[in-house]
Amino acid sequence: MKQMNEQTAVTQTAAQVKTLPDAQTVTDVRHYTDRLFYFRVTRPRTLRFRSGEFVMIGLPDDNGKPIMRAYSIASPAWDEGLDFYSIKVQDGPLTSRLQHIQPGDQIILKPKPVGTLVLDALLPGKRLWLLATGTGIAPFASLMRDPDTYERYDQVIMMHTCREVAELEYGRELIESLPEDPLIGEFVGDKLKYYPATTREDFRTMGRVTDNLTSGKVFAELGLGCAKMDPAVDRAMVCGSLEFNKDIMAILDGWGLREGANSEPAEYVVEKAFVG
Ligand SMILES: Cc1cc2nc3c(=O)[nH]c(=O)nc-3n(C[C@H](O)[C@H](O)[C@H](O)COP(=O)(O)OP(=O)(O)OC[C@H]3O[C@@H](n4cnc5c(N)ncnc54)[C@H](O)[C@@H]3O)c2cc1C
Ligand SMILES: NC(=O)c1ccc[n+]([C@@H]2O[C@H](COP(=O)([O-])OP(=O)(O)OC[C@H]3O[C@@H](n4cnc5c(N)ncnc54)[C@H](OP(=O)(O)O)[C@@H]3O)[C@@H](O)[C@H]2O)c1
Repeated sequence: MKQMNEQTAVTQTAAQVKTLPDAQTVTDVRHYTDRLFYFRVTRPRTLRFRSGEFVMIGLPDDNGKPIMRAYSIASPAWDEGLDFYSIKVQDGPLTSRLQHIQPGDQIILKPKPVGTLVLDALLPGKRLWLLATGTGIAPFASLMRDPDTYERYDQVIMMHTCREVAELEYGRELIESLPEDPLIGEFVGDKLKYYPATTREDFRTMGRVTDNLTSGKVFAELGLGCAKMDPAVDRAMVCGSLEFNKDIMAILDGWGLREGANSEPAEYVVEKAFVG
């Protein structure tokens, strides 16, 4: 009965969206945990974006009023569809509904991409660090599939930390598929290093991104021959909770890297994965 009600709710939602401008059709959905899922939608023909940017997406509420939220585009700029990687907040205005979408349903997508996690906001360097917790990996799922990332950097290091192993699965699947990917594989080569970790469940690598950086553990385990970042060669992109971002920024500042922006490129850039 519960399932039928949910199905009815989704169908009604889809019907409501069809009457709105900016509707896009869901083409794929994959659930990873009871808190995380992936979905893909059609891409508006007019949408141009830089890998790493975010857009506003949403669904109508019971009165047809759109509930819109910021979402990082998880697919690269060259892809014909748009990927998203989402949290499910059980009482969240948007994701309590969004978690029920199925292929064929429609969502609202405002085709106005913005954001700071773009390669243009960084000065040239040799090594790019992508530092994420939780759904903060979404913009990096885009950047890790952009040939430009590998053209600009000799080495790309993706550090992703979650509480539990199952929360790493979306990133693991995607990253492990990259070297063999017919479109991006030759650019990735052996340039991409993946450093997943958990904090609340046993795993081969454990610990917060902050601790694994300041202890020198990640540098040693990846054989980088140094124990901290060097502003002359290292660049970083950061995406997680406000607390995570704050703590990482303190570390990067301490190592002499400066925060950059589209208008003033520097050594690192930061964006919130959510407000909370
Ligand atoms: C620039 C930007 C980009 C974003 N990109 C993404 C994305 O790619 N994927 C995504 O799932 N969310 C993303 N978010 C968060 C997103 O905008 C919504 O907050 C989220 O979809 C939940 O919406 P809601 O209406 O269900 O609940 P909300 O009322 O928006 O949030 C309720 C509470 O849930 C928690 N929460 C919200 N989002 C998350 C999250 N992603 N991870 C963990 N806890 C969360 C917070 O404690 C928040 O106070 C982004 C936010 C910003 C500012
Ligand atoms: N993930 C879950 O299973 C779960 C379940 C129910 C509810 N929630 C709620 O959902 C919200 C978001 O949870 P989330 O797990 O997606 O995100 P989160 O709490 O930000 O944790 C994600 C990862 O980031 C780490 N982290 C948190 N703050 C950090 C900091 N300041 N510096 C470095 N690392 C930091 C966490 O380590 P630590 O483990 O050491 O904190 C964890 O490994 C929270 O309010 C949470 O209470 C989460």
